Amino acid sequence: MTAKPTDHAAPAVGRAVYLETFGCQMNVLDTQLVRGQLQSLGYRFVDDWKQADVVLYNTCSVREHAEQKVWSRVGEVGLWKKSDRPDLVLGVIGCMAERDGKDMVRRHPQVDLLCGPGELDKVPMLIDNAVKTALPDRGGIKAVGVALQGNTHRRSTTLAAAEEDQLERIDLSRSFVADDQSSAGRSAYVRITRGCNKFCTYCVVPFTRGREVHRPPNHIVEECRKLVDAGVREITLLGQTVNHYHFDSAAAVTINDVVQPQVGTVIAPNKGTGGPSPTFNDTTTSFAQLLARIHDEVPDLQRLRYVTNFPRDFGNDILEVMRDRPRICRYLHIPVQSGSNRLLKLMNRGYTVEEYFDLVDRVRDYLPDAELATDIICGFPTETEEDHQATAELLRRCRFKNSFIFKYSPRPGTVAMDRFEDDVPNDVKKRRNNELLAIQADASTAVHQAYLGKTVRVFVESLSARSRKQSNGGMGGVELGWEKPEQVTQLAGRTDGDLIVCFDADPSLIGEIAEVRIERTSPLTLFGRLVNSPVATTTT
Ligand code: SAH
Ligand code: SF4
Ligand code: F3S
Repeated sequence: MTAKPTDHAAPAVGRAVYLETFGCQMNVLDTQLVRGQLQSLGYRFVDDWKQADVVLYNTCSVREHAEQKVWSRVGEVGLWKKSDRPDLVLGVIGCMAERDGKDMVRRHPQVDLLCGPGELDKVPMLIDNAVKTALPDRGGIKAVGVALQGNTHRRSTTLAAAEEDQLERIDLSRSFVADDQSSAGRSAYVRITRGCNKFCTYCVVPFTRGREVHRPPNHIVEECRKLVDAGVREITLLGQTVNHYHFDSAAAVTINDVVQPQVGTVIAPNKGTGGPSPTFNDTTTSFAQLLARIHDEVPDLQRLRYVTNFPRDFGNDILEVMRDRPRICRYLHIPVQSGSNRLLKLMNRGYTVEEYFDLVDRVRDYLPDAELATDIICGFPTETEEDHQATAELLRRCRFKNSFIFKYSPRPGTVAMDRFEDDVPNDVKKRRNNELLAIQADASTAVHQAYLGKTVRVFVESLSARSRKQSNGGMGGVELGWEKPEQVTQLAGRTDGDLIVCFDADPSLIGEIAEVRIERTSPLTLFGRLVNSPVATTTT
């Protein structure tokens, strides 16, 4: 089942698409890129799937729960397609298509197309094919369009390089017209690394996203520059293990058969002291160097953030670059997964709890105002009460601003599922999960309380949840014949340390950076008063 282009394109103009996203920020970016591609071909987007000619789900496979949501959506749309809309195109794209797609088509024959995260540039062609094969003059013969990578990490280097060029195109093809999808078009994601080579024993990502590939630094800097020229103020760099970013310009990279020169500032590698750091040669750009290049070469960028970090190989060079450059956010998401060395080993994480503590101490030394967040898996196979207590202790000690705590979910094809029995009963997982959440709630409360009376820089993202509810018709004064009392609009944004801040101000501030004095705190939110707006950070 391989997709082949059809002889002539079916008209896309005006065709309505419903595209829903599940999963991580990488998927949010992929959705934006697919959306941009389809929009440039004349498709329009709708918010109600029943109004759509094409329904696409961009999916996540990381836990079973994430997949179940998609199964039920696909089931519902599939039934409707069967009874009311046989011409509707139903597509599953992203990680679940890659991991599980063929099974999905077997269970839901109404699915017309599958496209893995490494093949997203083929979505328009797959939709085209689906539309055409359903046309009556083609006999309505149903063929599922499929674009999946398979196990690319096993392919030959030449083939892999050609595929990389192909993949690079989807990022390079992005539209630089500011859209209002996120923070009034002022916030954007930029991918720096695709895939992952870590093979943590519980994780599907290396199977769905393929092996680790780093994008050329010049492409990344150029993309950031164009986004900022189009009005973007905040950029978040994306990768599964961003601190492992490295690009060797001595290794040829071609796009459209042109070798890409590596020009621009070359900063002498500065590994700093105390922290482990990979060794690079002169032609290699490290993550610290990439951060410095973006900060220095795109001076109008107001805020630079990045996720996600891997606890190993996080050198002081990164912390030094952050310390010396005020427009790089004081926020580090560094998933630890467990506080037990025995479990870290079973998870194949490659570091110890002591090494993690050393990293946290170094961050606090270099960046005393930084906030940290983490991910935890509880109930991993063989987890004892003692292991669980070690994780609880780690949460108390590290004072994270928040933690994403997940119950272990066995994933087909992973080493953990093949080799270890899922032997922690669900009620025990649940209890441990709740205990960890309670410890984290105390830590979050303390972190937030420390901001009382301080003035913070806030990137204003949107109306707050409260204001959104009100503007969605919470108070129907007009219909009742009396003047609706004037509502003060509450806005929501984030500090440099990624803490959520709510304050009253005019919505025109959305997408700007403002200064807010904190007057009240809750475990997960700061509340304050606007003192200055908009604020520009001085460039160093
Ligand atoms: N690259 C990041 C994580 C990406 S997946 C890292 O290395 O940390 C996001 C999070 O999902 C992980 O940090 C982990 O906490 C959680 N996760 C991944 N697989 C899981 C599984 N099988 N069960 C439960 N949680 C899982
Ligand atoms: Fe998954 Fe581990 Fe890679 Fe993170 S580092 S994406 S947890 S395999
Ligand atoms: Fe999910 Fe794929 Fe992201 S599995 S977490 S959408 S990389």
